[in-house]
Amino acid sequence: MIPAAAARDFQLTRVPADFLDDPYPWYAALRAHDPVHALEGGGVFLARYEDALAAYRAPQASSDKKAEFRPKLGDSPLYEHHTTSLVFNDPPLHTRVRRIIMGAVNQKAIARMEGNVARLVDALLGEMAAKREVNFIDDFAAQIPIEVIGNLLDIPHAERGPLRGWSVAILSGLEPKLSPEMLAAGNRAVTEFIDYLKVLVAARRRKPGDYETDVLTRLIQGEKDGESLSEKELYHQCIFMLNAGHETTTNLIGNGVWALLQNPGELARLRADPALVPSAIEEMLRYDGPIQLNNRRLTAPMTLGGRTLPAGTSLTIGIGAANRDPAQFPEPERFDVGRKPNRHLAFGQGEHVCVGMNVARMEGRIALAGLIARFRQIELAGTPERDRRIRFRGFRKLPLRLT
Ligand code: HEM
Repeated sequence: MIPAAAARDFQLTRVPADFLDDPYPWYAALRAHDPVHALEGGGVFLARYEDALAAYRAPQASSDKKAEFRPKLGDSPLYEHHTTSLVFNDPPLHTRVRRIIMGAVNQKAIARMEGNVARLVDALLGEMAAKREVNFIDDFAAQIPIEVIGNLLDIPHAERGPLRGWSVAILSGLEPKLSPEMLAAGNRAVTEFIDYLKVLVAARRRKPGDYETDVLTRLIQGEKDGESLSEKELYHQCIFMLNAGHETTTNLIGNGVWALLQNPGELARLRADPALVPSAIEEMLRYDGPIQLNNRRLTAPMTLGGRTLPAGTSLTIGIGAANRDPAQFPEPERFDVGRKPNRHLAFGQGEHVCVGMNVARMEGRIALAGLIARFRQIELAGTPERDRRIRFRGFRKLPLRLT
């Protein structure tokens, strides 16, 4: 166990050398010794499940990030993007945009997407079988969400190339510590993305898609009897939608397969009983989730872990830390593909809970079931390379040999 003094010194802006490979021992030390942990520059890190849940549900925990992002991002395209997207807004903008998007990702819509995802997964598995040695991230995990989100906004296939790079650059702008290069790349990505969307939106205005299934048409037309979005709001919600479902779902699949490789007994159990695939997906989300942190700012005082925090306090919700809290999950460090109940916080909670969670679950389920049915042996074929970030957790490279 990491000692109490080291836990009290912990800072997200200068994490210990071993944190990026394995943050979980640090999270355990924070839960045990300093669960409402003061961060440099103000604010606290919440390491316990109970406090994380309370923060998600508190009416005084605002998602508006203008005060926090201004000093970090300046007056920049990245600032405009992140402070306009629904996830970093409170009502009324949040409510309006959320309702528009929700209608296109309900259970009926997801059922319609399934056949297409199954065909894509089948084709990718065939290509990987022919190669035998693959970078599982580029060759498989990243391909599925690009297709799904690209279809949701009906982006022509030939134009999807830059989406993943833009998404990574823009989301990297949310890291606790930003280099000038990251800032410049994020700003460039927002500008290029908007230039692209201007052309796409103009074309969709001339020839609208199906309001029931096409998220872009829904965002353009707004709610049937409500106000429509401004042009600027529209572009930023599109960018957010495209980003929200990309890297996250890629990392669910990548981190999940990595967890299976580290736990061969659980892989064997899953092979013997494929009915466990849905609970295995939940366990992958809990055990090593794609998003490790969320943020809120208090608009009124709140008591957490016995401490009363004043209005204005910035809360960093430790999703990865909460998801391994022994007070909520028996044997939390054990990866258990049959775990039930499993009320993890990988998709957040409360008013901003992930809109696309059932889309991501469907993609994960089809990808994992297909992979284990197709390949008798799944082995590491080189050294995996983690994407060295704190908020978003995943792999850049996961070399696998598939037989
Ligand atoms: C495994 C994959 C995914 C994970 C782990 C994930 C996680 C999250 C989390 C933690 C939030 C809450 C943010 C907050 O409260 O501050 C969120 C919000 C959101 N997610 Fe996801 N997400 C995933 C996939 C997707 C997909 C596939 C889509 C789109 C189809 C999507 C769309 C959204 C949207 C629109 C929001 C904002 C909701 C709001 O502010 O009301 N996500 N996601």
